[in-house]
Amino acid sequence: MLNGELGNAVKKSMEILVALGEIYGADRLIDVISVQVAGVSYDNLGDAGLEFLDNLAKDGKVRVLTTLNPAGMDLENWQNLGISKDFADKQIKVIEAFRKMDIITTCTCTPYLIGNLPHFGEHIAWSESSAVAFANSVLGARTNREGGPSALAAALTGKTPNYGMHLDENRQAQVTVEVKGKLQTTSDFGALGYVIGNKIKNKIPFIIGIKQADIEQLKSFSASIATYGGTALFHIKGITPNKTKKPKEKITITKEDIASALNALNDESSEVDFVCLGCPHASIKELKKIANILKSKKVKTETWIATARPTKKIADIMGYTKMIEDSGAKFACDTCMVVAPLKGRFKSLATDSAKACFYGRSKNNFKVHVGTVEECINAAISGKWKS
Ligand code: F3S
Repeated sequence: MLNGELGNAVKKSMEILVALGEIYGADRLIDVISVQVAGVSYDNLGDAGLEFLDNLAKDGKVRVLTTLNPAGMDLENWQNLGISKDFADKQIKVIEAFRKMDIITTCTCTPYLIGNLPHFGEHIAWSESSAVAFANSVLGARTNREGGPSALAAALTGKTPNYGMHLDENRQAQVTVEVKGKLQTTSDFGALGYVIGNKIKNKIPFIIGIKQADIEQLKSFSASIATYGGTALFHIKGITPNKTKKPKEKITITKEDIASALNALNDESSEVDFVCLGCPHASIKELKKIANILKSKKVKTETWIATARPTKKIADIMGYTKMIEDSGAKFACDTCMVVAPLKGRFKSLATDSAKACFYGRSKNNFKVHVGTVEECINAAISGKWKS
């Protein structure tokens, strides 16, 4: 691979992996069975990124199951979301380059909901931080948080350097976190990720005191703890499958901590002109819930439901799509409120996602509000936060 016998794309990819392996002291390369590539939005890639992909696509084909992170627009319905034709033309070229490499061009941060689903102990190379935390922690697969180029290199070679999260010794918990008080909604779990992430940064927590958490709550938590702390792995006693020792260092999270996190994630502004649900991308269970709440109602603000296109296809079959679209809300498949080029279009975002608050503030200068799905939909209908 390294001497170019298998083509230029493989040679370039192997150079990236060898360099990474040397930097991190990896003893060898290992096989991966799944890849998820970030760096798909033309908003982030620009022309230089597109040229890099076009070059690899000349002779590169992926060797393992590979899907994409969200792109800068809905690939079928971009006009309806107010994306310019110039941007759309470039974004389509990006997707074409990936397709040429045999990558499945489903653009989602929840690949585990649409068939890119590794199982316990498998080595993978994923990029998106929330998906990485979910894969390591909830599925028990093993991945570092790859950059776009290193994930693509893993896809084109089927290999990754053996370091970091691939090794047993780096997957042990470092802090015990006792959670007091009941968490109920995805926004509560997002707030918990905010609190723990801010307190322990990128240390690995062993969390006790949570009796139950469904997939939607765990994906919200994965996104939030990775955003506010940076860890790629967490353990929740009785819920996640990895074995770990219980660390002596301990912190406690109270229900007051959760309340003050929710407070910190809400800016002072009562107006809402943009509502976005589905960060990380909504599951079919969430789409069903949103459809039932929106049934026979009309939204006043621009309202996006971000999800993977295959998940929307199920919603089409079940009639949820019609219920959602009849209200005036729009699907944002293949994309999300963070990777789409939205700067300057809106002032105030309402969402159930703590992660979306972080990027809404930092990338797009939005005022942000976080709350339950019901509260967000009320804001979409009234244009006001909790009026
Ligand atoms: Fe996914 Fe976009 Fe949120 S990539 S995790 S919906 S910021």
